[in-house]
Amino acid sequence: MKMQVSTKVSWVGKIDWEIKKFHGEEYSTHHGSTYNSYLIEDEKTALVDTVWLPYAKEFVANLRSVITLERIDYIIMNHGEQDHSGALPELMRHIPDVPIYCTANAVKSLRGQYHQDWNFQIVKTGDRLSLGKTELTFVEVPMLHWPDSMICYLSGEEILFSNDAFGQHYAAQSLFNDAVDPAVLASEGLKYYANILTPFSRFVTQKIEALGALNLSIRTICPSHGVIWRDDPMQIVNKYLRWAADYQENQITILYDTMWEGTRLMAEAIAVGIKEADPVVTVKLLNTARRDKNDIITEVFRSKGILVGSSTINKGILSSVAAIMEEIKGLAFKQKKAAAFGTYGWSGEGPKILGRLLAEAGFAVMEGELRSLWNPDEQAITVCREFGRRFAEYSR
Ligand code: FEO
Repeated sequence: MKMQVSTKVSWVGKIDWEIKKFHGEEYSTHHGSTYNSYLIEDEKTALVDTVWLPYAKEFVANLRSVITLERIDYIIMNHGEQDHSGALPELMRHIPDVPIYCTANAVKSLRGQYHQDWNFQIVKTGDRLSLGKTELTFVEVPMLHWPDSMICYLSGEEILFSNDAFGQHYAAQSLFNDAVDPAVLASEGLKYYANILTPFSRFVTQKIEALGALNLSIRTICPSHGVIWRDDPMQIVNKYLRWAADYQENQITILYDTMWEGTRLMAEAIAVGIKEADPVVTVKLLNTARRDKNDIITEVFRSKGILVGSSTINKGILSSVAAIMEEIKGLAFKQKKAAAFGTYGWSGEGPKILGRLLAEAGFAVMEGELRSLWNPDEQAITVCREFGRRFAEYSR
């Protein structure tokens, strides 16, 4: 399969309709994904990135059906992660001497993963590679999202090959942003940023500003996952600038797990209190044991404040809450408020532990965790509603 992107550029990647979890079990792909590889055919021919290992043979066979492999002059590896480099060993079996253009860090990651001494050509920001009438310019983008990450720009066609940046895990038969469901595209793009790029937001801003300073005319953005941005490509760049600026909506999210329903009753009463104090704010409740963790993270990303609740168990917190707190800490959210709550039967450490974890994760934690002994009675429910009202004011 080959899909024409522009006069000289075609897509030769893999649409993965089946994948349900990406990064091992780390990322839920409700709408599948794609591994985008691009072929540039000018006086010289260059291949930009490959696909994930399970599709290596399929990828090479498909590539063979569109071009004689020996005609490939250059391989550009924008990033060494296996979803883009997995088919490289299979491809290099056929064309072992073709130079691979990548960053110095990509040489380390590719050697570390495949233990092959291929013909690496290290490039730095500003280096160029002429393909004839067009020319590739390389720009290193370390920590977006690996130290080895790079993007490149093709003059003449005015295409930015952005690798992971500006992608989404979204399988579609026609891979153009104006040809897919806009609601799915919007939600998958947001989820992708929230779950993968949040910790690197400072670099996102810096690199987009540096790219802007190059004054490149960008007609199309070709990421390595999901749709190609050909209709108003700068829309996703502008969204990234907004998301990178400690993004939040007028939303408060309540995360909880509950053993015998008491903490759920507290969560629901707190939600009522929040709405009493602020009828306009969006309030969402998510049971951490029952909801997809990446969807939870996306809701945290959108929120100006979160409340986290757990029953106390064995002087600690429930495991699903502990797991999501580990995720939240790693993503290093900024400028968000938080509070903790939960039920207990005797020792009652849970909410205090949660308050500490939230503070360690960088949240501004409202003073005074809320605990409720056994199942909340009418009086305790009233206290929960007051707690919700207080948090709504705290989060304004
Ligand atoms: Fe899509 Fe960082 O790999």
